[in-house]
Amino acid sequence: MKIAICTGGGDCPGLNAVIRAVVKHSKLSYGAEVVGVYDSFNGLLEDPKKARSLEIDDVTDILSLGGTMLGTYNKGGTFKGSNGKAQIDQAVESLQQLGVDCLIVVGGEGTQTMAQQLADLGVNIIGVPKTIDNDLPGTQQTIGFSSCVDFVSDSVMRLRSTAESHDRVMILEVMGRDSGYIALHGGIAGDANIILLPEIPFDYSKIYQKIEQRRKMGRKFSLIVASEGAYELGGQPQYQGDSKKYLGGIGQTIAQNLTQRCDLEMRVTVLGHLQRGGAPNAVDKIFATQAGVKAVDLAHQKKYGRVVVYKDGRISDILYSDIKRYQRRKIEPDDELLSIAESTGICLGR
Ligand code: F6P
Repeated sequence: MKIAICTGGGDCPGLNAVIRAVVKHSKLSYGAEVVGVYDSFNGLLEDPKKARSLEIDDVTDILSLGGTMLGTYNKGGTFKGSNGKAQIDQAVESLQQLGVDCLIVVGGEGTQTMAQQLADLGVNIIGVPKTIDNDLPGTQQTIGFSSCVDFVSDSVMRLRSTAESHDRVMILEVMGRDSGYIALHGGIAGDANIILLPEIPFDYSKIYQKIEQRRKMGRKFSLIVASEGAYELGGQPQYQGDSKKYLGGIGQTIAQNLTQRCDLEMRVTVLGHLQRGGAPNAVDKIFATQAGVKAVDLAHQKKYGRVVVYKDGRISDILYSDIKRYQRRKIEPDDELLSIAESTGICLGR
């Protein structure tokens, strides 16, 4: 059997750990060949193709390495537009030319939607879920999320000491697009006082009340974690520049608004791509290894068209058709962590 693997979308900690598990398990347990495809599906569209055999030596010592040794691509456009159909046909043909029996696609919602297009044409695909945003439907956790939450939580704790020393309100803007998992989990773990999520449009007066309530208790500082997709009740998410592509800027907007209401100093930190870089934590290294091994087992059982998922503490798999195309998972109104946050005094801006 010949298995190909590619990584698509924004990178995250744990991608190299998946590649390593796929190569090691294929070689050691099945004596199978592995081909690494570079730059997401783009390696299949180039002439010559950007793909090469992967041996155990190639993946030695990469378990804890951030990023992806196969490169990735998240600028969009591939498999879309007037050239889209031709690109899909080219990818299918390239996989045939490489003699690939099954393609393991490590990606988030955008990449898995593209993988489904190949599966529709009969390509044997197995998906592995990754993204720091944790917004892929069908799985309760994606590779990279836990490491990102660790970093956000550590960042909030670092802001605490400087906020307290200066009696300041610190606003930390975090990634997540229109899902608030990073902000909610990182905020709770970092002991934030206020967490603002895209799923709960916020009310400035509630944020102000919380800051004032803390001040009356002798706490002259406050820590706010704002998801990049958070927005005021009745308002809209905020984007960088004129294009509606990249969210960003809500931290500054909140600071400006609160400055008009209270006399505390505000400072804004945008964590940006620091959240995506660096080594995976232990949870992600284990999860990535489990997912890579599971994907190879599915390939050898010829259980194609399936995505490895994490549910209720167990690794399992579901059909691609159970993952809704072009849909991102969001925090549900009845998510237990929302009530846990509020039960422990965290203001969610409502
Ligand atoms: O999807 C992961 C993500 O990190 C989002 O949280 C963020 O909005 C986006 O990617 C940033 O993408 P880029 O790498 O294009 O800046």
